[in-house]
Amino acid sequence: MITMIKKLTFEDDGIEIFKEASLQDTSFLAFAARVFGELSPAKNAVNKLSRGIRWGVLANSKITWLDRNSYRLDASLNKQEAGRTREFDLLPIEFVTHPIVQGVIMRAFERMRFDVSSETRAFEIQLSAIRYNVSNANSAEPSPPEPHQDSVDGSVIVINEHNVFRPENRIYDLDNQPLFAFTLKPSEGFLLKDDRYKHQVVPHVFQADRWPDEDKGFRDIIIIRFQPVGR
Ligand SMILES: [Fe+2]
Repeated sequence: MITMIKKLTFEDDGIEIFKEASLQDTSFLAFAARVFGELSPAKNAVNKLSRGIRWGVLANSKITWLDRNSYRLDASLNKQEAGRTREFDLLPIEFVTHPIVQGVIMRAFERMRFDVSSETRAFEIQLSAIRYNVSNANSAEPSPPEPHQDSVDGSVIVINEHNVFRPENRIYDLDNQPLFAFTLKPSEGFLLKDDRYKHQVVPHVFQADRWPDEDKGFRDIIIIRFQPVGR
C-alpha cells in the first residue's frame, strides 16, 4: 500500500506504481498458481528462488516467443552471482501467450513510452516469473540482496500472495539514500527507470499470526523488461 499526494509517473519521476485489474480474474489466478507452483530453483545460481523465464521479440505489435531461458549479468550488477550464466525453467508457452499475460505485457510496453513504436523497431522482451517460498523455518532471499541496478528498465507485478509478511520494495538514489518504500498487493506493480535509481525488495518471511494452523506461504511476481534491438 502506498499513499501519494502527487501521482508519480515514469515519464516525470522515473517511477510509476500501477494496478492491473485484469489480474484479478479468479480462473487466471488459479492457472498462474499452478504454473508458479511448478517452478524450480535456477541451475548454476547461488540464489535458490524458484524462477522461470522466457525471451521474446516484439515487432509490429506482435510477440514471437523464443526458447531462450538463460541470461548473464555482469558481476558488477550482481556480486552474488559473480557473472555466471544462470539457467532457469523455460516458462510454458500457455502462460506467456495467455490473453491476460499478453495484455499485461503490452500495457507494460505502453507505460515505458519508448520514442519509437514496434512498427519501426524490434524490442527484445524478457519475462520472468518468480515464486518466493516462505515457511516457519525459512525466509526467501531476493537476488541480489542489496540495493542495486539491473541495467535495463523493468516492471514488477505481483500475481498471487499468501502468508508473506510485508514484502517491502525500497527505492534509493544512486548514492544509496532511501527515497520510497511500498508494499505491493496482488495485481499491483511498479515500473522503474533503472539508470535513475537503485532498488531492492526485503527478504520475504512467513507471516506467523494470520493463519495459526499454517506453516508456509508464497509470493508470485512477474518482471517484464524491454530493450530495443540493434543500434
Ligand atoms: Fe533488480
